[in-house]
Amino acid sequence: MPINKAKSLKGEITVPGDKSISHRGVMFGAISDGITELTGFLDGADCRSTIGCFRAMGIDIKQDADHVIIHGKGLNGLSASSEMLDVGNSGTTTRLISGILAGQSFISTLNGDESIQKRPMDRIITPLSQMGAHIRSLRENGCAPLEMGGTQLKAIHYDSPVASAQVKSCVLLAGLYADGITSVTEPVASRNHTELMLSGFGADIKSEGLTASIVGRPNLVGQKIEVPGDISSAAYFIVAGLICPNADLLIKNVNTNPTRAGIIKIAKDMGGNIELLNERVVSGEPVADIQVRTSELHGCEVSGEIIPTLIDELPVIAVMAACASGTTTIKDAAELKVKESDRIATVTENLSNMGCDITPTDDGMIINGGKELHGTTVNTYLDHRIAMSFAIAGLVANGETTFDNEACCCISYPDFFKTLNNLTNK
Ligand code: S3P
Repeated sequence: MPINKAKSLKGEITVPGDKSISHRGVMFGAISDGITELTGFLDGADCRSTIGCFRAMGIDIKQDADHVIIHGKGLNGLSASSEMLDVGNSGTTTRLISGILAGQSFISTLNGDESIQKRPMDRIITPLSQMGAHIRSLRENGCAPLEMGGTQLKAIHYDSPVASAQVKSCVLLAGLYADGITSVTEPVASRNHTELMLSGFGADIKSEGLTASIVGRPNLVGQKIEVPGDISSAAYFIVAGLICPNADLLIKNVNTNPTRAGIIKIAKDMGGNIELLNERVVSGEPVADIQVRTSELHGCEVSGEIIPTLIDELPVIAVMAACASGTTTIKDAAELKVKESDRIATVTENLSNMGCDITPTDDGMIINGGKELHGTTVNTYLDHRIAMSFAIAGLVANGETTFDNEACCCISYPDFFKTLNNLTNK
């Protein structure tokens, strides 16, 4: 669907369920005793990959759109899949499930699409090997396809070189299958959904400073979880509401966990008119409605400890920076290079094509904002976050913005273009 310049943007929306929480709900439910019920589940391709993997290992999972019921079989209730597990495009599925699979008595193999086969898995192979796991990259290139399982794990302390919730979660999940305490220290804090949720399922798990630790072999018990809206999906509309003329948007029921909500602080730092309303706690996670209105934005620096709290939002933050006066510098974000696409390269290419002054760096980008943008054909590299970020840029660009692929939004936000179209046509 081509995107044209918006004259105004007004309305009230909800966004799909949080991707990180949806994945974890299925995984933790599968290895718990009894029933786990998820409402507000993200019915997107990545979370469907997680469901597919656990069904293949004998777990009965009923899904009706955003309502999911998992009949858990306990910590040792999974059975070997007769086929290679298919993780699709999902890094979260790959890295978290590997922690669980490494602790099983049977051997599993997993693989995904072309993008997943290029993403670094040595970051989980290293700690899992230290735990005594049999795990190997079948092409010996540190990437999927992976084979793992069939050995007894031992508890370790792991000093992670990267701030990554996927690595941290992988090690903690493997720790469920080891005697004693497994712990992980990160250089900078990453999202803490695993810690919050596993505790709710009955695990003995603690967080102190940058270290999370878990006691092995707990009895996990199925839970009822209301999945809040994903701030990473809300981010597109937060930015749209700030950069479009005559905009006033209310985005309801968004997860505002501080380990995820860096975009709110950056929007405020840039002069954005953004307010959190009706703040509350739902299933152990902070939730709010977010109101955004047209704002005069100015550039700022985005660096340091805030980076993991907005890592998935950086493409759309770059779009916001292109619409702000002055310079925005994004630093300490080399992790962008190993996402669904190399997002330093893909953001730079597409923003440049729209007429923005942007320079890529080794760990981020420098954006001199305030130049008029013009429409282009966006090269998405099949990266959902690139497609959606540039749809938002299209709302303020002269002329038409089109896409080499729109379907990739199905990974995290299948109805994105429909929601956007409803707002702009009002
Ligand atoms: C996620 C962690 C982040 C994030 C990803 C989801 C998670 O990845 O980018 O979209 O659910 O744990 P890293 O752990 O690689 O930073």
